Formats: sequence, C-alpha cells, structure tokens
Amino acid sequence: MAKQSRRRHNPIERKVRSKRKRKASSTRWLSRHLRDRYVIDARASGYRSRAAFKLEELDGRFQFLKPGSLVVDLGAAPGGWSQLAVKRVGKGNVIAVDCNPIEPINGVICLVLEVGSEEASNRIAAVAGRKADIVLSDMAPAATGHRATDHLRLVALCETALALTRHILIPGGTFVTKVYQGGAEEELLRELRHAFLSVRHYKPPASRRESAETYTIALGYRGNAIP
Ligand SMILES: C[S@@+](CC[C@H](N)C(=O)[O-])C[C@H]1O[C@@H](n2cnc3c(N)ncnc32)[C@H](O)[C@@H]1O
Repeated sequence: MAKQSRRRHNPIERKVRSKRKRKASSTRWLSRHLRDRYVIDARASGYRSRAAFKLEELDGRFQFLKPGSLVVDLGAAPGGWSQLAVKRVGKGNVIAVDCNPIEPINGVICLVLEVGSEEASNRIAAVAGRKADIVLSDMAPAATGHRATDHLRLVALCETALALTRHILIPGGTFVTKVYQGGAEEELLRELRHAFLSVRHYKPPASRRESAETYTIALGYRGNAIP
C-alpha cells in the first residue's frame, strides 16, 4: 500500500503516465529513460543523445580521436557522436552522414545520404578530399523488436559500412562499428581480422546492459590492396 502511494507521487512516473494512450511497456521505457544518468548528463552537456558518452568511453579506452584527424561518422543523427568527435579532432574535420536530416552542428559537415548507395560513397570521398583517418558507424536499422531479425539487419549494415570504409579509410586508419551479438557476425569479424591489424571488442558502460549492442574497434587498416 505504502509502495503504491509512493509510486503515485513520483513526479517522473506522473509525467510519463499523463499521455493516456501510451502502452505500459512504453511508459516503463520512458520512465527509465528520464531517470537515466546518461540522458540527464547529455542534456546538461548539450549533447543531442546519450550515445555521445558511448563514443567518449570508446575513445577513452582506445584513444583514436586525435587533433587534426579526419572522421567520417556514419549513422550520425541526431548528432551526439559528431558533437563529441568535433571537440576532439577540431572543426572542419568531421563528416556526419545519415539517411535522415541532421540539424547543423558547428564545425561539422552534415550530409543526408543512404550508406550503401553509390552516391554516398562518391559524395563522401569528394567532400572529404582525402582519405579518412577514422570511420565510425553507429548505424542501426529501425528495430523490429524481433531480436534475431534485428541482429541480421545490423550485421548487414555493418557489412555495408565496411564496404564503404574500404574506399575511404587511410592505411593505418581505424574503423569503429556497432554490432548486436547474435551469431551471424562471425563472417564480418573474419573480414575485419583480414583487413585490420587488430580487432577489439568493447561494450562501453553507457551502452544499456539489457541491450545486445556492443562495439568492435578495428585498428590499423591494411589498405585496399588486401582483397
Ligand atoms: C542509433 S542512431 C545513431 C546515433 C548517433 N550516433 C548519435 O550519437 O546521435 C542510428 C542512425 O543510423 C541511421 N541509419 C540507419 N541506416 C542507415 C543508412 N543505410 N544510411 C545512413 N544512415 C543510416 C539512422 O537514420 C539513425 O539516425
């Protein structure tokens, strides 16, 4: 009883429940989201998404974002990763790409392109004017909620990101990609081990524990002479 009345007076849950037609699962998600320390910190730091902290933690561990490096950020919207990246590499050195529009970010070149299309590959190369030092991919397909399907679709997207990376990454460069664990990523990892000197895996603390998402960091691109 006491527990019930306490819950009724929780301001976050009251706010979340106020939308009458929201499903119970959405209410729970939104309530958790509003309490999430990374969401609160993102808002306080001016980041557009809590995802910025995932990149911060990845870079804290592997230190690939260096001043002057050219970064291509695939699946960049709404822009948290690019906001963090531009702070570390400097203005004019980040190209943010998404199939959805990205609100302008100071010092970042934003392109609306479907990664996987020929146009994307050509435009990115033309806009960059030189090979990138780092390709980041936080791309994710729209979730179906069916774990196996989402896993297969993300692995396919990673393959697409890797194909593009082979065209635009400098030898010695770094490729970071999101993957969902689920079994089908073995072929992708085999390709990465072939194309890069070192392939590491890391689930940053900002990535929700219940999410199958993790990140693969491929270091030391061998160059596109490798088939
Ligand atoms: C999880 S969000 C990225 C969040 C972003 N890293 C941030 O910090 O704000 C995934 C993004 O991938 C994009 N995306 C998915 N498939 C894509 C594709 N084929 N080409 C370009 N963008 C894609 C989606 O539009 C979405 O904005």
